[in-house]
Amino acid sequence: MTNFETLSDKKKSEKNKSLNQLKIDKMNALNDEAMAGGGADRIAKHKKDGRLSARERIDVLLDPGSFVEMDRFGIHRCKNFGMEKKHFHGDGVVTGYGRVNGKLTYVYSQDFTVFGGSMSRTQANKICKIMELAMKTGAPIIGINDSGGARIHEGVESLGGYADIFLKNTLASGVVPQISAIMGPCAGGAVYSPSLTDFIFMVKDTSYMFVTGPDVIKSVTHEEVTKEELGGALTHNQKSGVAHFATESDKNCLLMIRELLNFLPSNNMDDAPILPTKDDPNRIIDELNEFIPDNSKKPYDMKELIQKIVDESYFLEVQQHYAKNILIGFARFNGRSVGIIANQPKILAGCLNIEASKKAARFVRFCDAFSIPILTLVDVPGFLPGTDQEWAGIITHGAKLLYAYAEATVPKVTLITRKAYGGAYDVMSSKHLRGDINLAYPSSEIAVMGAGGAVNIIFRNNIKEAKDPARELEKLTENYEEKFANPYRAAEVGYIDEIIEPALTRKRIVDSFEMLKNKKDTNPPKKHGNIPL
Ligand code: HXC
Repeated sequence: MTNFETLSDKKKSEKNKSLNQLKIDKMNALNDEAMAGGGADRIAKHKKDGRLSARERIDVLLDPGSFVEMDRFGIHRCKNFGMEKKHFHGDGVVTGYGRVNGKLTYVYSQDFTVFGGSMSRTQANKICKIMELAMKTGAPIIGINDSGGARIHEGVESLGGYADIFLKNTLASGVVPQISAIMGPCAGGAVYSPSLTDFIFMVKDTSYMFVTGPDVIKSVTHEEVTKEELGGALTHNQKSGVAHFATESDKNCLLMIRELLNFLPSNNMDDAPILPTKDDPNRIIDELNEFIPDNSKKPYDMKELIQKIVDESYFLEVQQHYAKNILIGFARFNGRSVGIIANQPKILAGCLNIEASKKAARFVRFCDAFSIPILTLVDVPGFLPGTDQEWAGIITHGAKLLYAYAEATVPKVTLITRKAYGGAYDVMSSKHLRGDINLAYPSSEIAVMGAGGAVNIIFRNNIKEAKDPARELEKLTENYEEKFANPYRAAEVGYIDEIIEPALTRKRIVDSFEMLKNKKDTNPPKKHGNIPL
């Protein structure tokens, strides 16, 4: 509780001190009170599951000693249900700014030990204040969420506070990177601020997000489900795709956020940091000449290929547990940040389905918004066929990826490693969607569809009428493959700029991005487009 009232008493008992010293002592006492959050008992209870306190989390996230707190003495103004007698400095959230890897970063960290970290009008004002500063000064904002939701005592003022934050999240989207860490409960409308941000990190076993909790679900649908099953870290990383990273502990989560920030610019006018690398940009990778299997139906691991070509083999994969048939993440080429989107032939043959399209589309848009060049690695047999996909709207969802690539004006380098069939060829950063440099391996196959399907459609009658239909099918298939299952037709018409020896992959990608580094391109003036949401 605050002790503003006791200053004059203290003054009397400490007559020997100067008035200035007394005022400083008073300030220090108030600071100590604020630093104590909800008190030692509540902090001990909070930390017993291995969680860090709100302030410890900030210490791990920011460079040592760089945190400057704002609004430490903020208190709520609620007079309902005896709240006028209960005040904690800070009102359940610690806000301020500091440095991550030397770069200015804003942070708020909800303190569950103060009214369960619940959102009050005051808490919302504090968060909005640093969000405004983040936008004005062009720096990322990290929200550490650990809260029982709307401050029940405050009613609509709390809801208004949430909505003010949602508005700020929306306005800041594409202006400064916004990252959410979920480190405890995040329920009800509270989930919408994180979902408006660019990346959501969750901590396994101690964090959960849901719009309606298990009790409400049980009373409405009679379905029984635990908090963890409903909205735990694995649920949102594997099933719903709401979250982007599932981390092992609070500390691990915060260190990963630092790592992600290292790939990002501070704002949409800035360049991503360039990290010096010892990895030779001209490194020849001979083993890649034998990497793609001869049999085009045989899977291989695209992640391995990525690790072979990027600086120091380091690929920070995003959403690694969701829609594994497509890979997204950040890496560097000659020190520069690049966003990578790659079909994964190991899963579902790398085809595009609804989940993969949505996952990749949002990532393409993030990279484009923050001027991060895009590398697309293509091995895609097409869109996943079936009623499940059609009825769930693959047309609309697939179009998201198409739209995102078409709209993106950052440098776009595309490499077809093997298959690029049908509409999926067009979608995956083809020349036609303003791909700047489109490369292909000699093993690539660029066609409307696979040989088997194509021959059965266009030569159906020839096959039926042939003396030996099986032999005829085989002959026609071989003929089709010779004609189309290669990159040369696309190269003849300029849809592929160069067919490269796989050993040269890293060198060519580095050459392409270096050549494109001053690229400028624009879209027609408009309020905003109408992406098929
Ligand atoms: C005020 C709250 C609070 C809340 C928790 N507390 N939630 N105070 N408003 N929303 C307080 C408790 O009174 C308690 O105070 C302290 O925080 C810790 O709470 P516990 O219940 O003791 O903790 P725990 O057992 O760990 O349970 C955590 C919890 C539970 C699951 C989050 O507190 C809970 O269910 N809270 C209510 C969740 C909820 O329904 N929120 C509203 C959602 S609707 P003391 O003084 O004892 O330490 C919503 C709408 C937002 O958020 C819409 C935005 C558009």
